[in-house]
Amino acid sequence: MKYIWKIVNKIWSYLFTKERLMHKLESADDYALKSVANALRNVLNYIILDAEKDWVEKIELIRKELLNSKKVITIEDYGAHAPNLNLTDEDMYKGKILKKTVGEATKSSISYNKGFLLFKLIREFKPSFCLELGTALGISASFQLAALEMNNKGRLITIEGAKSVAEIARENFKKLGLSRIYSEIGRFQDILELVINEVNPIDFVFIDGHHDEYATLNYFETIFPSLSDNAILVFDDIRWSKGMKRAWKTLINDARFKYTIDLFKIGICIISNSNNKKESFKSFLK
Ligand SMILES: C[S@@+](CC[C@H](N)C(=O)[O-])C[C@H]1O[C@@H](n2cnc3c(N)ncnc32)[C@H](O)[C@@H]1O
Repeated sequence: MKYIWKIVNKIWSYLFTKERLMHKLESADDYALKSVANALRNVLNYIILDAEKDWVEKIELIRKELLNSKKVITIEDYGAHAPNLNLTDEDMYKGKILKKTVGEATKSSISYNKGFLLFKLIREFKPSFCLELGTALGISASFQLAALEMNNKGRLITIEGAKSVAEIARENFKKLGLSRIYSEIGRFQDILELVINEVNPIDFVFIDGHHDEYATLNYFETIFPSLSDNAILVFDDIRWSKGMKRAWKTLINDARFKYTIDLFKIGICIISNSNNKKESFKSFLK
């Protein structure tokens, strides 16, 4: 009985925190924050138009095909590789050569829930220029591109260091008929600055690669001068390692963000020119 009560209590507090967060977000007087609130509400209640559903289903079909593929590819990994490895900048820059099947590589793609959140964020916020770090096989980019397609507005630049996966991603964009894309191949360290000059100002950023504390913060510093006044930045895997937890802590304390929203695995930061006071929100999104 005690055990059941504990579970009931946990579920209740989980739902309650979420509702409280939603209420606070929805009463906000800020365009970017309101967009995030609407997107979250749509994701939590699975509110989806038929045309949106068509896109999401097509993307999930591509994911299924990729997961079933036994084709072996060579991947140059310029990231942090594993949470406890603490590689040096030099090691990460040199990279590691991995051999994986396409199916194995697909497992590091964004989950359906997070993909749907990106999709809804872009549907609500209607950005003109989006930037993604970490294309991999193109799943998260496809969610963003499908939303841009439905908005009939906006472009996405996505960067990936491993040529083999980026080329498969490009095929997937073609298969899906997603054309609002510039897909760049290269290390973030080498090409991020150049790429940014092509898409200035940037309204929406998704950082999902090179999960190293200093690299993440450095990429943010590189991107910051090119952000628009109300930009939204989404950081994936904010609890992937001790370093990523520290990076997230640094970001939520950064005065340049008016709002930060901690959804446990994913963090959303908003640059806003509104006069509202700085606020941090926290809840969980499974
Ligand atoms: C988690 S995966 C991205 C998954 C993708 N966003 C999705 O959900 O479909 C991270 C990607 O970032 C790439 N990456 C990591 N560090 C990099 C670096 N320093 N330069 C370029 N690409 C990098 C990796 O090769 C990997 O494909």
